[in-house]
Amino acid sequence: MKSESDTTFAGPLLADIESARVRVATVAQVTPMQTSRYLTELLGSEVYLKCENLQRTGSYKIRGAYNRISSLSDAEKAAGVVAASAGNHAQGVAFAARELGIKATIFMPIGVPLPKLQATRSYGADVILRGHSVEEALRAAAEFAHATGATVIPPFDHIDVVMGQGTLGLELLDQVPDADTIVIPIGGGGLISGVASAVKQRAALEGRSVRIIGVQAANAAAYPPSLAAGEPVEITTTPTIADGIHVSKPGILNFEIISQLVDEVVTVSEADTARALLVLLERAKQVVEPAGAVGVAAILAGLVRGTGKTVVVLSGGNIDPLLMQRVISHGLAASDRYLKLRIMLPDRPGQLARTAELVAEANANVVEVQHTRHGKGLQISQVELELHIETRGPDHRDLVIAKLRDAGFELRVEQ
Ligand SMILES: Cc1ncc(COP(=O)(O)O)c(C=O)c1O
Repeated sequence: MKSESDTTFAGPLLADIESARVRVATVAQVTPMQTSRYLTELLGSEVYLKCENLQRTGSYKIRGAYNRISSLSDAEKAAGVVAASAGNHAQGVAFAARELGIKATIFMPIGVPLPKLQATRSYGADVILRGHSVEEALRAAAEFAHATGATVIPPFDHIDVVMGQGTLGLELLDQVPDADTIVIPIGGGGLISGVASAVKQRAALEGRSVRIIGVQAANAAAYPPSLAAGEPVEITTTPTIADGIHVSKPGILNFEIISQLVDEVVTVSEADTARALLVLLERAKQVVEPAGAVGVAAILAGLVRGTGKTVVVLSGGNIDPLLMQRVISHGLAASDRYLKLRIMLPDRPGQLARTAELVAEANANVVEVQHTRHGKGLQISQVELELHIETRGPDHRDLVIAKLRDAGFELRVEQ
């Protein structure tokens, strides 16, 4: 364990995080800590949810952004700040700059979801759409900084940003002083490196230890290979619904802190993340974006050992309604509560009614039907039926499928 006397520790010291907390408290709210009966039963030990999805701007990002911007010199403040982001960092920087009376310019990729664009603008930032990826927007932000003298506010790889995010760790320990395990989403590593710095130093002073588990989306998990290689490694990612943590390379400072302080990094699938979002909505009544729900996904996937009080950080709640709709249907399908079937029917009267009857006999509910006579691969005497059915779990889903197959229907399970 590292402490203030350990000069090899690259991260922020506890005293500095405590000072940051005083600064950040002027803009950030103390977010609620909530228990979860459902997850407690599943894990076999107490689970708490740190609801940073209810933070101002909808995520923890204002902590780091505010701490970084407030530490700029007067000359730097006068020249303004610039950032590139497709989401929460943009809102955090825009909000923090407005609170400090500083001009903010945010570069966002073309095609960024409208709610995120509007929210960033609503905090008073100048938003410039540039490029088709965050990397392209980042290049544009760097050029802007060079041309205007504005300071770039990085999303994770800066000591002041890490220190600001660390304030969440101190707050969390005030709410659950005897936390045994803390589960935290990882993108570039800003949040977890800050929280781990705060929590591990505070716990060491109290002569105890706290386990820190990081969670990445399997489709964008640069930390496991980087930790194995002993240095940040750039990986090829694939799309993930957890867009907030879609990062292809760890931050340099963040990697160093995480290598020293984080006990374990696990990865979760898209299906687990969708299920987590649904559990949070239904059971905890919390609206959480996919990146903010990966900690719960890790519990659902059995990747976290319950050895005491476990705090899961819900790091953000900014999800646009269209994505929410898609994630909910994936989450229902992943929990075997939504079944999509394609059935080939002979084109004879009564076939559609017969399938509906069989589904009803299985006590399942049809939520959508599509009945087509034309289409590729269809014989003249055939009709294709697409049925969307609400089911109550794996056994019920199997029952519906078996009932239709036993009656001689040729079907394909789509979801
Ligand atoms: C909701 C949410 N959770 C977690 C993260 C983690 O990011 P990082 O590890 O880079 O701090 C992000 C990053 O934007 C985010 O938006």
